[in-house]
Amino acid sequence: MTLSHDFFEQLMNDNEIRTVLDDKSLEARERNEFNPPMCEVFRTPITQLRPGQHNFFIDPEARRQLPDIIDSKVQYLIKGNLDDHIAVEQFNKKRRIGVAFSGGPSPGGHNVIAGIFDAAKKANPDSVIIGFLMGLDGIIESEAIELTKETVDHYRNLGGFTLIKTGRAKINSSEKLRLSRQTCKALNLDALVIIGGDDSNTNAAFLAQELIKDGIQVIGVPKTIDGDVQVRDEDGNVLCAISFGFHSASRSYAQQISHLCSDGSSDVKYWHVCKVMGRVASHIALETALQTHANMTLIGEDLINYVNKKRLEKKENNDEIDFDAYGVTLRQLSKIISQAIVRRAQYGKNNGILIIPEGILEFINEIQKFIIKLNTIIGNYNHSHQADFHSAFPTVNDKLTYLKSIAQKNEPYSIWNNQDDEMFNEIPEFFREDLLMERDTHGNFPFSLVETERVLMGLVDDYLKTLFEKGLYKLGISRQYFEKNMTQNNLSHQEYGPILFEDYHNTDNRFLWVKKSITETSHLKSALINEDKIASTDEIHPVLLKIFKKSIPNFKTRLHFYGYDGRGSNPTRFDCMYAYNLGNTAFNLIANGITGQMAAVKNLEKGFERWEPIGIPLAPLMHLEERKGKLSLVMEKSIVDTNSPAFIVLKNFRERWLAASEQSDCYRHPAPIRFTGDTEEDRPITLILNGSDYLKNILTND
Ligand code: FBP
Repeated sequence: MTLSHDFFEQLMNDNEIRTVLDDKSLEARERNEFNPPMCEVFRTPITQLRPGQHNFFIDPEARRQLPDIIDSKVQYLIKGNLDDHIAVEQFNKKRRIGVAFSGGPSPGGHNVIAGIFDAAKKANPDSVIIGFLMGLDGIIESEAIELTKETVDHYRNLGGFTLIKTGRAKINSSEKLRLSRQTCKALNLDALVIIGGDDSNTNAAFLAQELIKDGIQVIGVPKTIDGDVQVRDEDGNVLCAISFGFHSASRSYAQQISHLCSDGSSDVKYWHVCKVMGRVASHIALETALQTHANMTLIGEDLINYVNKKRLEKKENNDEIDFDAYGVTLRQLSKIISQAIVRRAQYGKNNGILIIPEGILEFINEIQKFIIKLNTIIGNYNHSHQADFHSAFPTVNDKLTYLKSIAQKNEPYSIWNNQDDEMFNEIPEFFREDLLMERDTHGNFPFSLVETERVLMGLVDDYLKTLFEKGLYKLGISRQYFEKNMTQNNLSHQEYGPILFEDYHNTDNRFLWVKKSITETSHLKSALINEDKIASTDEIHPVLLKIFKKSIPNFKTRLHFYGYDGRGSNPTRFDCMYAYNLGNTAFNLIANGITGQMAAVKNLEKGFERWEPIGIPLAPLMHLEERKGKLSLVMEKSIVDTNSPAFIVLKNFRERWLAASEQSDCYRHPAPIRFTGDTEEDRPITLILNGSDYLKNILTND
């Protein structure tokens, strides 16, 4: 039955029904009304700047390309002097400020805009905030709307970038720079705020350089769930510990993973493999591990430290170094995972939770090589041809034929040779297709679309079969269960135990492992015949058969991808506050005449009362990096530091959380994402651990 309009109106007249059917849930309404606390300095009428003593290593290329903003210093926002009338007037002047989101959504984005909006309107109610639509394309194509209190209020403390949408466009050519400048001038902008990740902040730096002559200020804001926008000065002092959105996305993934922990430890039949977003860096994987205490978490950055000792030693005998012994291969990684599965199985645990970062491939030797080579080949092709690589070679076969043609040229130092071609063709077909997928506008490899977990778990499955055939993969049988069953069937466990199990006499073992030599019923029968327990014509006693069958693991996986769901979640209290204060910081930098800087909040790793809003110069953060086959000046991404306290904690808890023992699993269940009130932690656990002086002391004294 379809409801008529009148019926709809009628329904909505009832309070209770209206409440439950309204597009806005009660939670969303409460979120809209929540006022995130502000840093003390923003509660004063005006602010001023205090330059900080922080140095950066400056890439000469950054000085060459960004000459007018390269010498800008870190600025602390402090209480302004109300007696300085010129400063007060300058601070409160009417402004037109443009804002744009750039890149993937990140919870808290709306609060950045709300922060800019509120601060600008507080300083001067006639100021205007203009939102560019669909990311940087909105600037290039001059697609913009004026933001009103009503529209901003509608999205306060809510996830997504719905208000003005986002996109992955890049201002990477003189033409796009010209068009952007034209838009900003035509709209009479005083300032532009770009809310984005490393690539978008790179764009912000170039725009700041371009617009400086027009007196238009440009400020970046550190956004990305990946958490890879982090800034330290030359002396290692943390200026920006994390981007906004990281906490919410990690918490969202952690919550769902913790539900799997509950389900998995109830029906005990699956290994749940959870791939989490985060592009190359494994920050999200690390945080979700700390949040959930999953049995096993792979950290890409840690795999680089892997050394194949056997291989190394072999060459060392000839005084040679085998560089291929460093770093992990796909096969070695599958063995590492399999060993963990086997070890849990020995204690009767047929289930578990494995977290893998989506960018793990970047840290796997042979795959990383392929990604770099293919990025370069695609980049080079696009530079030198009219049509782009993917339109020129639409099918996988076309692409493979093109690769083969490069290999067959057999040119010295060719980027793709016959050996590459052969190795590439050995990879499963669907995975080859993944590796050849279209790169994004920045030339980034689309990690989130690759079925890494499927490839990896396929290899794990193969390896476990081999281990099983060798009698090395068994489910441990509880001694108590064995003895009870034997007694109930009037069989002597003292007599049968040693025939069936390794090390039966070691009474400390509460889990018994069926002998390596017994992998089939026929082996069990032979063992019983050899020990004169049965004749060759007899059947095996059903209880022995039952116990033997229980020792055969039934390895089943369920693959999950946690990506877009968490990226679109509502912000945590931390992100609500952080993003709102970032918006305030962006406005205050503008009001103090700054350009070419990224708004940041120092001391995020400490409690809120110690937060300090600052501006970080963007130009010194740029360095040369290979992109689309050529060197480009871009902002450096931060990956997980394997010497950081948070990683060291994970490393030291690995054994405990794997729980390959009689101990129960140690799963932790984080609370649902909340925006108000006390939660069990008020900032990412990674930040708490990295910022803990107590932990630092322990680690330095160790
Ligand atoms: P940003 O770097 O733009 O913040 O995006 C992060 C991210 O969510 C990654 O974690 C993920 O790999 C990627 O975006 C997915 O890209 P797309 O949205 O284009 O599918």
